This record gives sequence, structure tokens and C-alpha cells, in this order.
Amino acid sequence: MSDINKVLEYLETHRAEWDDLLCQYLRIPSVSADPNHAEDVREAARWTAGLFDRMGFSVELVDGEHRPIVYAQSPRVENAPTVLVYGHYDVQPAEDPSLWDTPPFQPSIRNGAFFARGACDNKGQILPHILSVRAWKEAAGRLPLNFKFVVEGEEEVGSHLLERFIDQAAERLACDCVVISDTGMPGPDQPAVTYGLRGIAYFEIRLSGPNRDLHSGSFGGAVTNPCNALARMLAGLADDSGRIQIPGFYDDVVPLSEEERARMRAVPFDEKAYFRMLGVETAVGEKGYSVLERRWARPTYDVCGVWGGYQGAGAKTVIPSQAGAKLSFRLVPHQDPAKVAKGLEIRLRQLCPPGIRLEIIDLHASPAVLTPLDSPFMKAAERALAATFPNPPVAIREGGSIPIVARFQQRLGVDVLLIGFAQEDDNAHAPNEKYSVDTYHRAMAASARLWEELRKGSDGARTA
Ligand code: BES
Ligand code: MN
Repeated sequence: MSDINKVLEYLETHRAEWDDLLCQYLRIPSVSADPNHAEDVREAARWTAGLFDRMGFSVELVDGEHRPIVYAQSPRVENAPTVLVYGHYDVQPAEDPSLWDTPPFQPSIRNGAFFARGACDNKGQILPHILSVRAWKEAAGRLPLNFKFVVEGEEEVGSHLLERFIDQAAERLACDCVVISDTGMPGPDQPAVTYGLRGIAYFEIRLSGPNRDLHSGSFGGAVTNPCNALARMLAGLADDSGRIQIPGFYDDVVPLSEEERARMRAVPFDEKAYFRMLGVETAVGEKGYSVLERRWARPTYDVCGVWGGYQGAGAKTVIPSQAGAKLSFRLVPHQDPAKVAKGLEIRLRQLCPPGIRLEIIDLHASPAVLTPLDSPFMKAAERALAATFPNPPVAIREGGSIPIVARFQQRLGVDVLLIGFAQEDDNAHAPNEKYSVDTYHRAMAASARLWEELRKGSDGARTA
């Protein structure tokens, strides 16, 4: 039996063990945004590191005090390329547990899916890459490639530590390509390679008005209400058609080529089913663009949260002293997040009425990315996916962001392969996040094949 078949068989016969491992992982509430979960974040890092320990990798927790990066390196394999596999063990906040059918950190398997925060984003997608390497080692007795794994704990909050680590450790991280599974696919039987991600610029704005909360009867009319001001300012960031009103915002946006538009039209997408799933009646968005173009290749402005004033039951007549909001701008290739930040500041200062002090906090930013579709690595990924799924892969872009991808491209000078397995209705970042059990195992098989295909596809390895 060929090595790859031994590996695939090994994966198949150990399915129960892989399910159990994912459930263990999902039980750790590694919420990076919440300081109350700091110890859980470290626990998830240690748990991840333990997987590499038992595979005989050298493993290190970078900055073990905070949200450590798990960095693991395989024993040297001669005459083989080196891949760097990236993923994240941190998860988004689960928020209101009453919105979940089962508790977010007590994984349950039902209807053929794992339900838990982090199921698809990203524990259920990084774990298959680790386990497929374990399977190679156990079943074939050898590794097909040199592996470097970077599994971080800050992806959901902007990857600040990893940015510094890549700058400092660029030589250690040298590789022939980077592999990431933290994106989606069009359907359970329709795999995809992703060649573009949107960037992001994320801000918090804080408005202060009078130095205390005020009776809205006694004081109303004499002072600027921060909530009223906030509403006007947020509305002023886009016109009625949704066009973003920030100076210079569209200057660097390049028009979509006809070739790309054709490629996007070729991606299977059922608009009706999509909006039915979302419970909305009709598509909205920029005129002249399809839904996929709007989501993948056009910039956006979204208010991710607003606060201020009375939020409790019933009525309370009050002019609040403070109000605020969280804003995200999704960016497309060639837009510079720093330029967006400058333009936003100018625009918000214009919109800010007398009587309000405005503070803008730049929380995180990363540029959009595109990766070549015709690289030998991409071809290897396509072969691995085609051999695993009923359909051959399509090439897609994605609307989400993975902040570190641009950094990998710039600092390591390599291609980044984005091969995602999440479904549109997997509820990433929302209550009842899930991940199909079948997809989890197929991802593992595709991963096992990918290592072999990458080895075959490489003409001479770097000595990374
Ligand atoms: N897995 C996502 C990125 C993603 C989402 C790719 C949807 C493709 C489709 C990732 O974990 C994520 O959520 N990233 C954040 C980045 C941000 C917090 C810096 C995002 O896109 O909001
Ligand atoms: Mn995410």
C-alpha cells in the first residue's frame, strides 16, 4: 500500500479519537478579547503545544505570559520543501449564552456537526492539519515535508504579537509556502482555493458631552446629547446610497477586471437560498455589483456596536454624558489602512458638533491580499482537494480578513495558500457556531494529501 493510502486509512480508523480531540480543544474557552479568559487562553496554547510535543516537534510558547504564539518545528527532512502552517486557537466571545442551544464551551455533536464557539473558526480547521501530520508520522513512519506551525492566540484581536514575532524571527520562519485554513467553501461538496481576502481597519470612537448624566427635561435643549451626535456622525460616514464619505477612501480602489468578474460569476452561488438562510427579503448594496462582488471585492463600512444612554427596561429620561461606537471598514487591494484612518479622523472632526469631545482609537488594521492562482503550490492544493471532495475546487475570494497574511507575504516573500472549509451557515462569530463532522474529516484527508502534493510539486527545496 502506498504511504498516502496508509495515512488515509489511519485517519479513517481513528475518527473517534479525532472527534474527541476536537471536543477537548473546544472545551477550552480561549476568548482572546476578554481578560477574564486570560488563563484559558494560555491553557489552549499549552494544549496545542502538547500535540506537537507528542509528535516529536520542537515547540515553544512565545510570550507565555499573555496570549502566547505556539511555534513548533518538525525534525529535519532532507530534500523536501518547508511549509509553514498557520492557524489560531483563540476564539471570539460567545456572549449571551441564552442565544445558544447548547452552551458555547460544552461541545455537542448533533445533526452531523460539532456545536461550540471556535468549531469552524478556527479550532476545527487548524486541528486537521496537525492531525494529518501525526497520521503521516504514525502510519507512514516519515514526514513528507519540513513543517513549521504557527498557531496564535490573537487572531481575533488583530495579531499584534505575531506581527512582531514575524519581524524578529523572519529567518527562523523561512519557508517555501504558507498554508492557512481559516476561510470558507461554497458548499459541503464544493471545495475552494481562496486567492483574495479583504483587509480591515477597525476603530472605536468615544464621544463625551456634559460632565454628568442629565435630566433630559431640565437640561434638554441646552446641551449637545452625545447619543444624538453619535447618530448623526455615524450616518454622515456614508451617503444614502451607501457610498462611504471619507476623503480619499476610494482613491486607490482598482476596478474589477472583466476576467475576475467572469471568475466570480462561475462560482456556484444561490442568491435566493443565501437570503433565505439570513431571513432577509432582498439583496442590498452597491449598484452595478453582484452579491459576491460586493462581499469579496468592494470596500464597506459597518457599525459593529453602539452604546450610550439608558439600555435597561422601560423608559428613563436622560441625556447621557457619554456615547460610543465600534466601526469596521473592510478594504480591498491597494487601499492603505493608514490612509483610511487619517481620512476617517478628518471626516469625524468635520461631523462632530460643538459641545462634544471626540476620541478615536485605532484598534487594528491590515491590508487586503491577493495571491497568485497559477503557482505550483496552488496547483498542489487543487489536486489535493479534487482527490478528496466530489467536485474539483473553484477559485474564490473572501470578504473576511486574516490580518497576518499580508505580513507573511511581505516579510517571508512567499505565497500563502488559503484553503478553507467553513460553510456560510456555520455561524462564525455568532451563537450556535458549528462545523460539519464530515467536513472535519475530509479536511484532514485533504491536508494529508496536500503534504504529498506539495512535495511532488516542488522542484527543489529551499534549505529553510
Ligand atoms: N476566519 C476569519 C476570517 C474569515 C472570515 C475569512 C470569513 C473568510 C471569511 C478570522 O478568524 C476572522 O474572523 N478574522 C477577523 C479579523 C479581525 C478580527 C482582525 C475578521 O475578518 O473580522
Ligand atoms: Mn474569526
